[in-house]
Amino acid sequence: KRWGFFRWTWRLFYLSTLGGLAYTGYGIYINRTPADQQEPDPTKKTLVVLGTGWGSVSLLKNLDTENYNVVVISPRNYFLFTPLLPSCTTGTIEHRSIMEPIRNFLRHKKAAVKFYEADCTKIDHEKKVVYINDDSEIKGLSSTTEVPYDMLVVGVGAENATFGIPGVREHGCFLKEVNDAQKIRKRIMDCCETATFKDQSQEEKNRLLHMVVVGGGPTGVEFAGELQDFFENDLKKWIPEIANNFRVTLIEALPNVLPMFSKNLIEYTEQTFKEETIEIRTKTMVKNVTDTYIEAEYTDASGKKVLEKIPYGLLVWATGNTVRPVVKDLMSQIPAQKDSRRGLAVNEYLAVKGAEEIWAVGDCAIANYAPTAQVAAQEGAFLARHFNQLAKTEQIESQLSILSEDQGKAPNQEARDLVFAEMKDLQRRLKRVKQMGPFEYSHQGSLAYIGSEKAVADISWLTGNLATGGQLTYFFWRSAYLSMCFSTRNRVLVFVDWMKTKIFGRDVSRE
Ligand code: FAD
Ligand code: NAI
Repeated sequence: KRWGFFRWTWRLFYLSTLGGLAYTGYGIYINRTPADQQEPDPTKKTLVVLGTGWGSVSLLKNLDTENYNVVVISPRNYFLFTPLLPSCTTGTIEHRSIMEPIRNFLRHKKAAVKFYEADCTKIDHEKKVVYINDDSEIKGLSSTTEVPYDMLVVGVGAENATFGIPGVREHGCFLKEVNDAQKIRKRIMDCCETATFKDQSQEEKNRLLHMVVVGGGPTGVEFAGELQDFFENDLKKWIPEIANNFRVTLIEALPNVLPMFSKNLIEYTEQTFKEETIEIRTKTMVKNVTDTYIEAEYTDASGKKVLEKIPYGLLVWATGNTVRPVVKDLMSQIPAQKDSRRGLAVNEYLAVKGAEEIWAVGDCAIANYAPTAQVAAQEGAFLARHFNQLAKTEQIESQLSILSEDQGKAPNQEARDLVFAEMKDLQRRLKRVKQMGPFEYSHQGSLAYIGSEKAVADISWLTGNLATGGQLTYFFWRSAYLSMCFSTRNRVLVFVDWMKTKIFGRDVSRE
């Protein structure tokens, strides 16, 4: 009897597991094959969105696309989860794990969204057209054209700032896009293999194994931490010849790194870097870059300015953002933008000042917030709500005008009262819809990985700010970024990459 009970319990468990798996499989299948999307409707306005980064994608995620004919234009046909990009430079995470094809998510929208893989080269705000150019390797007979818009959202992000320092673009590596991370990964391995080449002089070995990072903002700090981890956990084991010569130096013009973090976290980061043997050179400004050394200026103990030549094998340039040419050009067309230097000046509804029917989100917009993913995502979501509201307002207003005509034509008082009641109801809805206030940024805090499985976090609580650093914060950092990944697919891939790295170490092959 007892055996019979166990057998049935076991069968039930087995069946429910199978049922669960089938249900999950069905969910994935349904997700992969969404229902037919509504086709573009010529009576609706054309909303053109430039870019597929944090700002634009957050907008697209939250937008009711059936209200507009949406066209997305970007040279990148995927969304990139930038917070984990530094981990791709050393192979802790594979780059495809943090990329989400834009078409993957656009096909789940109710109404079809057009996507063109192209750069926007010019925005003519008077003619209301954008000029686009397919800059990819393969070009068809048509590779430049123009796209008219009724409404335009500029979310093209920013470029890497070099401050006109000679040699940076030619010899340095940036860290903004996937190909930057791939270039750095290749270059690290090239430096290591070349340093161990037969008969290499000690001086050349020292140069090749000197990894220099310029810019002590979060990009520079996170990369330096990841690189030192790579050396400690993997390179040192697989290539023991480099163990005594590999070093990482972080150069920062200001008196300290991570200026946006609390003072105690800055100190904690600097102390951790010291323990990790990463050299920090603060108050040192890079002035010139050649293919084998950089020239950096600092003030010595006697107060004299000294220009030092620092040989390097890898140079990563992370000195922040500057305005993209297409944005600069738009700014030059609009008199109201003449005093704006760092990007498009926008009002509290993110509308570009001095232009009609143009909005800007993310790093290319200046709304008095730091250029972060957090800000861009919140701006994108706000704009989507704003556009949804505009569409609803227009819809209700047109319904109201039809009803007021109907009221005039109503045959008797009873019919007039009915229409009046309906109008009253619509007016109440209109009031509710129009209630949306201006954009308000809600800061959730800042997080940064600093190497050796440690992270720093400045987190905003209801009652104030919590500044914390260490290994527990590192687990928080990991879980926060895992939960923020774009899709379940990304989350699974990132998690698997972390496990792979833990078990097998990072891959040191140079592809
Ligand atoms: P982006 O995300 O840069 O997207 C711009 C889009 O525009 C891209 O799709 C690009 O291809 C496209 N584009 C470019 N030129 C054109 C053109 N001419 N025409 C059409 N499209 C164009 N922020 C945080 O809050 N937390 C973090 O942990 C964090 N980590 C970061 C790590 C790294 C390594 C980097 C580089 C940045 C990090 N940031 C982080 C900052 C964050 O990534 C940016 O603030 C954010 O990406 C800005 O979003 P955006 O939409 O304005 O621009
Ligand atoms: P940044 O602007 O934050 O820092 C650049 C640093 O480079 C500055 O401290 C500057 O003093 C220094 N610098 C400039 N020119 C120099 C020179 N010639 N020589 C030496 N040092 C020089 O840039 P970063 O780190 O690229 O970040 C860009 C934006 O992205 C920021 O808003 C940042 O908050 C955000 N971000 C956030 C992350 C996070 O929250 N974990 C990670 C990466 C970026």
